[in-house]
Order: sequence, then C-alpha cells, then structure tokens
Amino acid sequence: MNFATRAAELKEAIIAHRHYLHQHAELSFQEKETTAYLVEQLTKLGIPVQSFDDYTGCIATIQGWQPGKTVLLRADIDALPIQENSGVEFESIHPGIMHACGHDCHASMLLGAAQLLWEQREQLKGTVKLLFQAAEEVFVGSHYYWDKGYLSDVDAAMGMHVWPTVDSGKLCVQDGPLMASCDNFKITVHGVSAHGSQPHNGRDAIVAASAIICNLQTIVSRINDPLNSLVVSVGTIKAGTQFNIITDTAVMEGTVRAHTTEARSLVEENMRRIVDATALAMGCTAEIEYNYLEPPVRNDDLALNKIAREAAKTLYGEDVLRSTALATGSEDFSYIMEKIPSSMFVFLGCRDEETGCVYPVHNEKFKINENILPAGAAEYAQFAADYLDKHAGGAGK
Ligand code: NI
Repeated sequence: MNFATRAAELKEAIIAHRHYLHQHAELSFQEKETTAYLVEQLTKLGIPVQSFDDYTGCIATIQGWQPGKTVLLRADIDALPIQENSGVEFESIHPGIMHACGHDCHASMLLGAAQLLWEQREQLKGTVKLLFQAAEEVFVGSHYYWDKGYLSDVDAAMGMHVWPTVDSGKLCVQDGPLMASCDNFKITVHGVSAHGSQPHNGRDAIVAASAIICNLQTIVSRINDPLNSLVVSVGTIKAGTQFNIITDTAVMEGTVRAHTTEARSLVEENMRRIVDATALAMGCTAEIEYNYLEPPVRNDDLALNKIAREAAKTLYGEDVLRSTALATGSEDFSYIMEKIPSSMFVFLGCRDEETGCVYPVHNEKFKINENILPAGAAEYAQFAADYLDKHAGGAGK
C-alpha cells in the first residue's frame, strides 16, 4: 500500500473539510458543530463512528478484513480564544475564536486518512481507531477517552501537529524528547498589613514575594543540570490595594516546563523549600499549590519511530524527513502516550515564506499552505497500515 497518490487525489476534499472546520472554530469542550461535522462526514463514508452524550469529539473505528493489532491515530479539534487576523478567505465566523494552532488541519487530515484506510480495509491487518479529540488547549481533553475505557484495546498510537519551524510538507519524526511537560503552581504569601509609612509595624508580603521570585530562579540556574532543559516562570503577581498600605497578601502563579522526568520532578520539592525558607526569612508564611498537568512528549519507542520514518520515505522519498529544535510548548496527547507506551508524535512542517506562512502557533496571523494537508493524511494512514503489517500474525496485545 502506498497512499501518496490517493491522498493527492483527495486534496480538494481535505481542504474543503479544513475550510469548514476553520470557519466554525469552537473553544475547548464546546466543539459541538465540529463534532457533528466529523460524525456526518465519517458516516457519509460508511465508517462506524462513536460520539458521546456527555463529551465532544468522536472515535471512528476501521476494522481491517485481516486479524491483527489495534493502532490509534489522533487529531485534536479545538480552537483558541483569539480574534483572527490571518487574512484567509475562510476566516472564522465565530467572533474571538480562531483555529490558531492548526487543529482544523489535524482533524481534516485525519478525515482524509480515514477515507484512505477505509478504501483499503480489505488489506488492513488489524484495526485502526481514529480519535478526534476535544479540548487539547486546556490540558485535559485527552483524559476522558482513556479514562472511560474507549482506548483500552489500543496497542500503539500516533499523533501529529503542523509545525511552523519546519518547512512546508516535510515530516519530522524525532527520537527521544520533542515537547515539554507543563505543570503549574500558585504561591500565596501571608504577611501583616500596616500603614505604608510604618513598614516596621507590618510584614510586607510584596517584599517577601519579590525575594521568592528571585530565589526561585536558582532552581534552574543552580539546582538543575544545565544539560537538562527546564523552565520555571512566574507569570502573574497580584498584591496590594493602595500605594500607602503595606499589604498582607501576595499571590503568584507560574508554569514549569521540562523535557525529562528527572528535571520535572526536582522542581516541586525545591520550590517548597525555597518558598518556605524565604517567606520565613521575611517574617511571612507561604502556601504552595502545585499541579502536575501534562508529562513531556517523548518518542521513546524507537521501533515505532522507525515505522513512521519509513512510512514517510515510502510516501515522499528520503528527502521528506527533517529534524527540528525541541519545543518548550506542551501537548496533551502526552497523557495518552503515558498510558500507551508504544506511542509517538510527528511534526508536519507548515513554514512557507513565499506564501507568508511564517507565524507561530497561537498567533492571530497563523496560517498554512494547504498543499501540505494530503501529506499529513497520507502519513497518518501509511503509519497505521505499516504498523499493522509489521505486527500481523498475532492478534491482541
Ligand atoms: Ni496545538
């Protein structure tokens, strides 16, 4: 099976899907029109699809005619609270909501892959599940489908993202770390309020918070191995009511990013020690809420990566493969990757200077050259078919 030619034939259909989804951009957990469209399109093709009364997104299942394993392909479907300014003719009709992270591309490519695989189901040696996942942008959208057991029969999984640092149409299948974990924290400093002219009568929560922010920098600069990437950022600080009052409360929130579990796991313990001791030194106390949200995206199943790389070469030749710098952004497919160890994540390049496709994701001007969409559909389908081929002969786990 080689899906490149058929994917090229489906280009107009895939682009039409993308235009509809782009125009009807919906926020996380509100992807009702999107889900209805996906279900309608899959049903039209004759592909069995499951949707949910209490959740958005859907799962299509293509049962090959030969026995074998089950492989999952995943696309996310939600948009962002951004007013679009991309200049495309099919801009979002929902004010203030835009597909600025390419999830409309992912969903339309996966619809294309569904058709490619459905047409070849006689030859497929196993089952392909296609997950159109809700609410990626709010970190938790992927949990539902795994936690409710809808993916418990899956042996291997693959996700994909269009990526603006990679040239248009090129595929990036990298071993090891790819995207960062994302955790967050909230620190509340308690002091004693006083008149601004009499600081000695209070315990200044703002001064303690300032010292805490400075001292937190040493987690990255002095505690973490410099060869292990790690980010600790304080993003908000809220304190005080008036210029002449020493405030008794300061609240800070921030984010932590890492590519390894080692770097990720050293932060909380060190943060607690530094925050408690610094607050104490200033005569204050502090509380920390620390939330683990998403593990890093790591392509650690080397055999699986090889299948994805070979699939790309089968489709478009040796020159289609690229590598790129690690991303400090995160991706909630990592939850599924953690549950299904045989998983991997692919970047599809979407940078195209000639057509002005140079903006980062989550930017109001983000756009892609749509000529790349068939390549995404073909890579999804080729990976699934090749994985099932390679593991044919022994059904189940
Ligand atoms: Ni995204």
